[in-house]
Amino acid sequence: MLRLGVNIDHVATIRNARGTPWPDPVRAARLAEKAGADGITAHLREDRRHISDTDIDRLMETLSLPLNLEMAATAEMQAIALRHRPHAVCIVPEKREERTTEGGLDVAGNEACLADFIAPLRDAGCRVSLFIGHEPAQIEAAARIGAAVVELHTGAYCDYDTEGRLSERDQELEALRKAAVQAHGLGLEVHAGHGLTFDTVGPIAAIPELRELNIGHFLIAESVFLGLGQAIREMRERMDAARG
Ligand code: PXP
Repeated sequence: MLRLGVNIDHVATIRNARGTPWPDPVRAARLAEKAGADGITAHLREDRRHISDTDIDRLMETLSLPLNLEMAATAEMQAIALRHRPHAVCIVPEKREERTTEGGLDVAGNEACLADFIAPLRDAGCRVSLFIGHEPAQIEAAARIGAAVVELHTGAYCDYDTEGRLSERDQELEALRKAAVQAHGLGLEVHAGHGLTFDTVGPIAAIPELRELNIGHFLIAESVFLGLGQAIREMRERMDAARG
């Protein structure tokens, strides 16, 4: 079964645009659960541009779905994760000036540091996931340092599709397929996400080694037109259809 993790960051982006309490990302998480989400993802950025510390407190207090806390590999974030002990922690690279998470983590280039960083999280019972590109060396390094999960970055595949660069899109898809096989063969659970839409989710959902997709921005954008529940149900249907 392919799980759908709904990323609620951009409910908080809209809220923060006005400094009001609405729309409330925790309410969105509850609605996502009713609509068939299998998990909730929230990225607590160092600059708190969307999700806040209070959002994480409230999600941990009230959510019955598993929470996947996305965060950078910093001491501050590690302390927050160890305090809350969410179901999963997904380590992502973070740059202040980026609009969204631009690339994958360089696990191979920071192996010793990341191994030390994830050990206490793993000991605290969190499933540690590393957000990486499809390069074989990154996958090998993720397995070596004892991550439970890798999440493959689908952003380039989605961007090529939007830009109509179809042969590059297909090459990217092929590389993601190979990466999923490699990671699965090394005993890692394989997730994917970033930039996925109704149009791009099918070929990714069809990769048999994948266990979870994390999708946010498009679902929140589409909920302006369809409502969040319906956008999630439609995404689920497309994932299930692609899975056969
Ligand atoms: N997975 C990871 C690791 C991410 O950083 C993000 C973006 O926060 C997503 C999935 C979801 O991407 P999008 O919001 O483009 O669907």
